Amino acid sequence: MRPRPYPIPFPTAEESVPETLARLRGIAPVVPVELPGSVVAWAVLSHEAVKEVLGNENRVFGKDKKHWPALHDGTIAEDWPMLRLLRGNHINNVDGTDHRRLRDYFGNAFSPRMVAALAERVREIVAGLLDCIAAGGDAVDLVPAFTEQVPMRVICELYGIPETEHALLRQRAATVLGRTSTPEAVHIARSRLHAFLGELVDRKRENPGDDLTSALVHARRGEDRLSRTELVDLLCQTLLAGHETTAHALANSIISLCTHRDQLALALRDGLWPRVVEESLRVSSPVQANPFRFSLRDTTVCGVDIPKGEALLVCFGGAGTDPNQYGPTAGEFDITRQPSPHLSFAYGPHFCAGAPLARLEGRIALSGLFGRFPDLDLAVGPKDIPYRPNFVTYGPAAVPVRLNRR
Ligand code: HEM
Repeated sequence: MRPRPYPIPFPTAEESVPETLARLRGIAPVVPVELPGSVVAWAVLSHEAVKEVLGNENRVFGKDKKHWPALHDGTIAEDWPMLRLLRGNHINNVDGTDHRRLRDYFGNAFSPRMVAALAERVREIVAGLLDCIAAGGDAVDLVPAFTEQVPMRVICELYGIPETEHALLRQRAATVLGRTSTPEAVHIARSRLHAFLGELVDRKRENPGDDLTSALVHARRGEDRLSRTELVDLLCQTLLAGHETTAHALANSIISLCTHRDQLALALRDGLWPRVVEESLRVSSPVQANPFRFSLRDTTVCGVDIPKGEALLVCFGGAGTDPNQYGPTAGEFDITRQPSPHLSFAYGPHFCAGAPLARLEGRIALSGLFGRFPDLDLAVGPKDIPYRPNFVTYGPAAVPVRLNRR
């Protein structure tokens, strides 16, 4: 094997995360990066490289942290902040048959029928939020008023959580997901979130409803069924996986439509909302750099040598804007682009289990918002939109708009 190239710091303070990923992709399809805390990982950046890694899941790459020696030999400090992403055994960090088992339970309970049945409720939730927005002033920050509200309310609906408890769940989840939450606050909020979901599971065991929690509680395969701990972990992981990603997807789409008004007009005229959702996911992936996969043996990805036992960051943000896949205008939002499948919901065994719901929410929320306020526009320049200081999921902290463009 060739000597390992010198790792490049990631993320970089002077650039946005998408800019850094585009720059690194220009160096090579896979490059070693130095993460905060001096931990080294391989950033997988091109469309081809991301597909190659995800297509070799379980054979060459795995998600189980036991495959990362640096974690167990003292190389990585016990207080490394990213360790919290590796805690627990849930659907997104187990491999092989353990993963297939959880995925089968989830897939059977979370059926297309359940997603289709949610459409009407999603429309009602969106209409209710738009009524509240319309009743306020002309200037609104759509992140707290809309983009964060839609996914959280939909998840509460999906889980069969009564309206009186929505605020409690939102509060717990906000602390777990909060960028400014201290590790101690996250630990406490996560324990409380688990306790809340545990009580929900117990109630649905006694009094099942027509919701995902009840379907999972009562699902069985022969003698096998999910334990209470597995149920709580699955619900918790789905909540965390489905909330911030969808909120960012909605916010990114709104910014792109406001800054491309000809395309907004086209979407409004021809109902091209599915194209809006897909193009926004491609060009501004809500998951930019996904930690971690681990190499199960010495291997190469797109010609780059990767030794056994190393960590990889799969950069959906780099793949979506790769000119080798999408041509010289790869970085531009264009809903008239020939459909070109993106990887922003991943690929292979861990493909996003909530993709049909996320797509449904995107179509209904965006068509509802711009149908009601077709003149809605950003109240600040796109460069002045603040972004959350995160590089795994990446999206706006605020989207200040005026409802009626002046
Ligand atoms: C636009 C919104 C969303 C995006 C961009 C997104 C993206 C992703 C990606 C990239 C992964 C794979 C991560 C990996 O490779 O390790 C994933 C997994 C997952 N997502 Fe989503 N997601 C979204 C919305 C949702 C929603 C609404 C739900 C459910 C309510 C959900 C549930 C899950 C679950 C359970 C997994 C784990 C699947 C597994 O490991 O087998 N996601 N998502």
